[in-house]
Amino acid sequence: MSNEIFITAKGETRGVPFRPGDTLLETLRRAGFSVSAPCGGNGTCKQCRVTADGADVLACRVSPAAGMRVTLPESDAGARVRTDAVVLPPGGEGFGYAVDIGTTTVAAYLYDLASGECIAEKGAMNAQRSYGADVISRIGHAKTPEGLAALRDAIRGQLRDMAASMCPSPAEIRYVSVAGNTVMQHLFAGLSPEGIGVAPFTPLSLFGEEGAAADDFRAFFAPGCRLYLCPCVAGYVGGDITAGLLSSGAAEAEGLTLFLDVGTNGEMALGNREGFLCCATAAGPAFEGAEIECGSPARDGAISRVEPDMSCEVLGGGAARSICGSGLIDAVAALLGREEIDESGYLEEDPRPLAGKVYLSGRDVRQLQLAKAAIRAGLETLLSRAGKCYADIDAVLIAGGFGAYMRLRSACAIGMLPPALLDKARHVGNSAGRGAALALRPEGREALARLREKCAYEELSSSPLFNEKYIDAMMFDEWEELL
Ligand code: FES
Repeated sequence: MSNEIFITAKGETRGVPFRPGDTLLETLRRAGFSVSAPCGGNGTCKQCRVTADGADVLACRVSPAAGMRVTLPESDAGARVRTDAVVLPPGGEGFGYAVDIGTTTVAAYLYDLASGECIAEKGAMNAQRSYGADVISRIGHAKTPEGLAALRDAIRGQLRDMAASMCPSPAEIRYVSVAGNTVMQHLFAGLSPEGIGVAPFTPLSLFGEEGAAADDFRAFFAPGCRLYLCPCVAGYVGGDITAGLLSSGAAEAEGLTLFLDVGTNGEMALGNREGFLCCATAAGPAFEGAEIECGSPARDGAISRVEPDMSCEVLGGGAARSICGSGLIDAVAALLGREEIDESGYLEEDPRPLAGKVYLSGRDVRQLQLAKAAIRAGLETLLSRAGKCYADIDAVLIAGGFGAYMRLRSACAIGMLPPALLDKARHVGNSAGRGAALALRPEGREALARLREKCAYEELSSSPLFNEKYIDAMMFDEWEELL
């Protein structure tokens, strides 16, 4: 029997060769299948479940055997990705393709450049997620040339496929604009992000320049297609932040604005049209639902809201199968209000059932505590460095795919944001995608170049002030201010 296994995904079966010594997860990745693997194959997240010869197995823990029949779950079904397009000034020919590459999700917009209108938009889970949930695991995988090429090809292939499904004629796509965090932009460009993974966290490029599209894009899009990657500020403040500052209006605001993108890294910028001070904190993957016992990204079946009486709202209706980041924040906020979690984070009933088989554990609460403390400490450190206090802040803009689902009141109840800022906070949706769209135009690219010059970066990883504030921010001691 040849070294082949049979994979069924989305109702179709195909034979796939395997290499002795590879795990099933590695074989699936090599064959181009995207399997959720937040821990990157370490056997800890339990989210790479597939069915192999009728048994439920973790793909990263088993080896393929000749003739094995594997069925992949419909994990992408109903993935919730926010897209919300802007209208561009008219002018130009053919199509423009603007993309926001998030670590978890990808949002793509197709523009008719002549009219400036967005004619299609689409969201999907990032195809690289089978290499780990966060940027650190992707950097780890990209250490070898083979690993880097696999990650590059995964995202480029996905962007080509998304374009093909949105565009009547991809050969008329004349301009591609990309916004992502600095690691995602490196992986897309095929540059090693290794330097970003270790102090002093130095990227190979901060981008911000226009060039010819890569060969595998040129062969698919218009022959003279141009490519632009939005300018990054530092290894952990990327083109998604500059694009977001531009499209949200923060870049031109007169009042002091806090721009916050909550994800596996909490990236933030404090400032106004005169300039911004930016930082990033390693919040960990809790907000994306990873490392949470019943966690998942925002997708059908995930509890996305929990009310104070503990009633749960499930995305897509139907039975609860998991809990996503916004549901997790709500659940902890509600349990604080019911005094089932104390100030230190101790969960009275562990595990605490929520709905169906979905529960919250004491360990989950701890993960959320670490994540929210990182965000809050970053914010406090920026304020302190800028010599400002909460009362000086005029607006708080919450960006990012996850941020769009997060209830601001719950974020304040758990102390991620100070309750004093609740009335000043609002969601700005997928500001990175809208910024990438603005960069399809020369005026947008010029504005981004000017903006980057006005952004300074504060490194927090070695900051004693940040560490001090991080420890203070672990407590749940502010929720009563919202009563
Ligand atoms: S347990 Fe297999 S990828 Fe995490």
